[in-house]
Amino acid sequence: MTSVKEGEAGPHYLGCVTSTSAIDRLSEEHGLLLGALAGLEELALRCMDKQPLDAERAAALVGLISEFGCGLHHAIEDELLFPLLEHHGVTRECGAIGVLTYEHEAFEEALSRLNTAMGEASEGDPWACRTWARQVDALSHISRGHMCKEEGVLFPFAQKALSGAEQEELFERMCELEEKRHRGLRERVVVQVPRHLKALGIAKIPPLERIGCPGDPRKCPKGGQHSTCSQGS
Ligand SMILES: [Fe+2]
Ligand SMILES: [Fe+2]
Repeated sequence: MTSVKEGEAGPHYLGCVTSTSAIDRLSEEHGLLLGALAGLEELALRCMDKQPLDAERAAALVGLISEFGCGLHHAIEDELLFPLLEHHGVTRECGAIGVLTYEHEAFEEALSRLNTAMGEASEGDPWACRTWARQVDALSHISRGHMCKEEGVLFPFAQKALSGAEQEELFERMCELEEKRHRGLRERVVVQVPRHLKALGIAKIPPLERIGCPGDPRKCPKGGQHSTCSQGS
């Protein structure tokens, strides 16, 4: 099974959304989302370093996460994968599906708070920039924790529980949903995320478990070069 791990942020790594296995494809999509998230985290760290917010790039990355993450990836999980897994005994009420669905909603709310904070931050107010950075941190926590659960528990379970025929049908339905609602989006994300990362000087996608790097240079995608990271060394 493909799983998200630390990797080069170049087109080779991020462009590997080529699997014809439903679950591997979802895992590869996490890689793209982590890449976009790493871009936002870098912008947030710069804000914490008292640098002005690159509002144009921030808006572009938030847009990609919203469209690709909420619009496509979450839709596939909510509408296709989770109902299928309920048939295999994964429970919604007080169970894993309920938790993961709630986290999709929490992710959307965090994204919305981030957009609200963008208004004043894009005008250059330092406090507004720090508020925006804290909203990125909140989004990052929710997102990384959620992907850890899916990568560590749900996806391995699905690989075992779903028959070959069920996985093939799931993949076909994923492709249909994408074709109907988000034609061309994946190709756009595969090209644009590495471009943003390159422009931001990010050579490695931080590992999934990384929850922010201030204070811990070992977890910093730039090797502890931020002043907030080196403070903790
Ligand atoms: Fe999810
Ligand atoms: Fe997911």
